[in-house]
Amino acid sequence: MWNLDKIIVKGRKKLNGEISVQGAKNSVLPILVATLLVDGISVIHNCPYLSDVDATVKILRYLGCVVKREGHTITVDSTNIKKFDVPDNLMREMRSSIVFLGGIMGRMGKAVLSTPGGCEIGLRPIDLHLSAMEQFGATITTENGFIDCSAKEKGLVGTRIILSFPSVGATENIILTATLAKGVTIISNAAREPEIKDMADFLNSCGAKIHGAGESTITIEGVRSLCGAEHTVIPDRIVASTYMIATAMTGGTICLKDIVPSHIGPIIQPLRESGCHISVDGRNVVLASPTHLKRIRMIRTMPHPGFPTDVQAQMMALTSIAEGTSVFIENIFESRFKHIGELIRFGAKINTEGRMAVVEGVKSLNGANVKATDLRGGSAMILAGLCADGITELSEIHHIDRGYEEPEKVLGVLGADIKRVNNYETTKN
Ligand code: UD1
Repeated sequence: MWNLDKIIVKGRKKLNGEISVQGAKNSVLPILVATLLVDGISVIHNCPYLSDVDATVKILRYLGCVVKREGHTITVDSTNIKKFDVPDNLMREMRSSIVFLGGIMGRMGKAVLSTPGGCEIGLRPIDLHLSAMEQFGATITTENGFIDCSAKEKGLVGTRIILSFPSVGATENIILTATLAKGVTIISNAAREPEIKDMADFLNSCGAKIHGAGESTITIEGVRSLCGAEHTVIPDRIVASTYMIATAMTGGTICLKDIVPSHIGPIIQPLRESGCHISVDGRNVVLASPTHLKRIRMIRTMPHPGFPTDVQAQMMALTSIAEGTSVFIENIFESRFKHIGELIRFGAKINTEGRMAVVEGVKSLNGANVKATDLRGGSAMILAGLCADGITELSEIHHIDRGYEEPEKVLGVLGADIKRVNNYETTKN
């Protein structure tokens, strides 16, 4: 089935109001994978309705887990896992399925997965993941697009792993593998994203011994087994950032309730530079827009706590209507500028040179027929549509459904004129 839903936006409505933010996609996926290590039942709260979550659940069920969803709570019983392979069609449903490597290895000592390949935003190699598995003592063979990873007779043994780049997925895979391995694992130059700490917090509540998650050095003392626990997924900092930027672009005021303000620290400074007023009160953050947005001198995407690559496209949409010239350098993914061609259809003035984009702000955008090129690029199209004159028709929104739970409803609550048109469904041959 090929989803041909569209989102239609009638622009120039100010967004105003108060919202809660969904659970973090980049937390819920590795946490669901981490339930594979548990000998028993895990109860995970605040799981958003996203196609990537559905894809993760399908793989868990294939492996032998009993998974139930009641509203935003997913219960996983991993007592009877029987399989260690993930079929190619399930792997392909979600790029981040590579994190199953650590989950399955940790539990079964053997994993067979298809290689993820590139995607909309770049090549996405997995050399760091595979080299880490070898350092635990696993043997890896790759043939016909499949990776076969097996622990040797003495099992997986804790080790010191120095990452040449603080990869989020590799850090998660190492933690997952190390949790039940023999001995101690130390990760140097680990990724520091909040979602890594969230996964480690879940595993620790199950009996794991992970210290330093969220910092550059993480130490994992292997334990014999984990028992089930309950966990609530953190709010999604990328979704929170997206709705803040949407509000800034339409000239409104938004209150995000019950988020973790430090998680959005890296986007607060550039938003202030653009003229937005941002105040933090406990777990609530209020953004009030200026009359005119100003340019942001330079945005360089970096690993956390630098500016997140997952907010680059949305911030570029904002600067396309800000007074002056803004410069973006994309340091994380080599092909993460596909949204630019679509922004230009709205009348944005953007030039690129390799990993650099130069945005000359224009007075206003015009509604356009555009497509979501990828998840975050797609959300940037919605933002452009919200502030543009006239109607925007956005197709290929299955990308957006990977990471945003009912964005049209959330934005509708804030006053946007936006709807999903879902009578275009057809069968793909
Ligand atoms: C995660 C996030 C994604 C975010 C990204 C960077 C999830 C599910 N996804 O993706 O939303 O955009 O972090 O913040 O959490 N690299 C290698 N070799 C490897 C692994 C990575 O060279 O073995 C490179 C990648 O090509 C890329 C960079 O490292 O240039 C960052 O990738 P990584 O941090 O691994 O991102 P993901 O975990 O895939």
